[in-house]
Amino acid sequence: PNEPPIVFHWFPVIGSTITYGMDPPRFFHENRQKYGDIFTFILLGKKTTVYVGPAGNEFILNGKLKDVNAEEIYTVLTTPVFGKDVVYDCPNSKLMEQKKFMKIALTTQAFQSYVPIIADEVTNYFKRSPDFKAQSGIVNISKSMAQITIFTASHSLQGAEIRNKFDESLADLYHDLDMGFSPVNFMLHWAPLPWNKRRDYAQQTIAKIYMDTIKERRAAGKSDSQDIMWHLMNSTYKNGVQIPDHEVAHMMIALLMAGQHSSSSTSSWIMLRLASRPDILEALYREQVENLGADLPPLAYEDLAKLPLNQAIIKETLRLHAPIHSILRAVKSPMPVPGTKFVVPTSHQLLAAAGVSATDPSYFPEPDRWEPTRWNKDSPLAPRITKSVEDEEKIDYGYGLVSKGANSPYLPFGAGRHRCIGEQFANVQLQTIVAMVVREFKLRNVDGSDKVIGTDYASLFSRPLEPANIYWEKRE
Ligand code: HEM
Repeated sequence: PNEPPIVFHWFPVIGSTITYGMDPPRFFHENRQKYGDIFTFILLGKKTTVYVGPAGNEFILNGKLKDVNAEEIYTVLTTPVFGKDVVYDCPNSKLMEQKKFMKIALTTQAFQSYVPIIADEVTNYFKRSPDFKAQSGIVNISKSMAQITIFTASHSLQGAEIRNKFDESLADLYHDLDMGFSPVNFMLHWAPLPWNKRRDYAQQTIAKIYMDTIKERRAAGKSDSQDIMWHLMNSTYKNGVQIPDHEVAHMMIALLMAGQHSSSSTSSWIMLRLASRPDILEALYREQVENLGADLPPLAYEDLAKLPLNQAIIKETLRLHAPIHSILRAVKSPMPVPGTKFVVPTSHQLLAAAGVSATDPSYFPEPDRWEPTRWNKDSPLAPRITKSVEDEEKIDYGYGLVSKGANSPYLPFGAGRHRCIGEQFANVQLQTIVAMVVREFKLRNVDGSDKVIGTDYASLFSRPLEPANIYWEKRE
């Protein structure tokens, strides 16, 4: 009786699965107009309550542990991919400790060493890739960005040893592992289908590669570098137990996989947007010349802070193309919705979609326009956000301080206990990739227009449709 309104549909079980799946943002906007900020739809037979807007983001992402649960929903997809006993295959308190351990690889000191590594990987990629041999050409940028992301992330986060294996066996294995992350696996994760068999083989083989490396390092009694694997190998849970080798291996997989899709899709969107706005690409080039010097010296971590437009590119692209369009939670106890008559029962699941408020004209004037300069405070398009959650009180869920509030229209990295730990790394990686591309290339759409390709929602992430072709030209 006090349940939120149900989105009209013709068929039970199927409900709105198809209209939602084809274009989730559009589905949210249309139903928000009809029903308001809270409504329920049927997703694969399950009553799914959407609550959009800053209050909805707060309600779901800052839900209490006794009320909302992430692992029950995600484990079927993630556990076969990452492996057992990590992330969503363990109690939340253990995940909080694991997030703390994984964050060790993500300090300022670490980032200072990562920027030159990432910059070199990008330069070398363009030197050796057959796609960029000529002076100009057309390329499927999503394909290039997927490769650049894996080379830069593995080299920086996992060290040269693991990175070099990506030229041989690891790239194919990770590709097979990736296939586990397809939405059909929400239902068919258990099925002995060919791609699931390859997924399981890949998981076991990759985990063994990491575990063999751990054993070698333990036998040698030392390691060449104090990288993430070294830190994890030597970390101890609060109960005094050292992280077992298989959990170290599975966290190494999780760390790489967690960022791969989000970063790779974001960098593809950035390149596509720049191809549609060559004026911004030129402004980025001038920003580097003016702020770093006409000779464009090797990029260092400290340089990134001197490139505000380069930073704004990432923010603005994540506003319109946040890779994760839907965040789901199981409901563990009936949840009254503050300020309304509604109660969300335990038979429902909750869905947060922060992208809806990120494209709401009451917060972002002319929301559909990709305009990185709107992040300048004095831009007429500047966000109308009175207080940012970033400036609010902080709280520690066990993995370091995060903003206490989630009552914000702009949350591409989520909020609360499940908030992303990879935000700074993603920014360092993306800013470095963009800066290096801008140094080497001019980009534009193949037809010279300012159009932007549509979004593929068939995977779990909001990627550009294929083929994402753009025209490139090397700078003189
Ligand atoms: C969680 C976004 C890159 C590691 C999340 C969540 C979002 C997100 C929205 C919250 C999910 C939820 O509440 O269910 C992004 C975006 C990225 C990015 C937009 C890049 C543009 C990365 C990278 C890493 C990473 C590079 C690793 C180095 C994680 C981890 C979690 C997380 C470990 C925690 C999951 C949990 O506690 O349940 N990310 N992410 N992410 N992300 Fe990221």
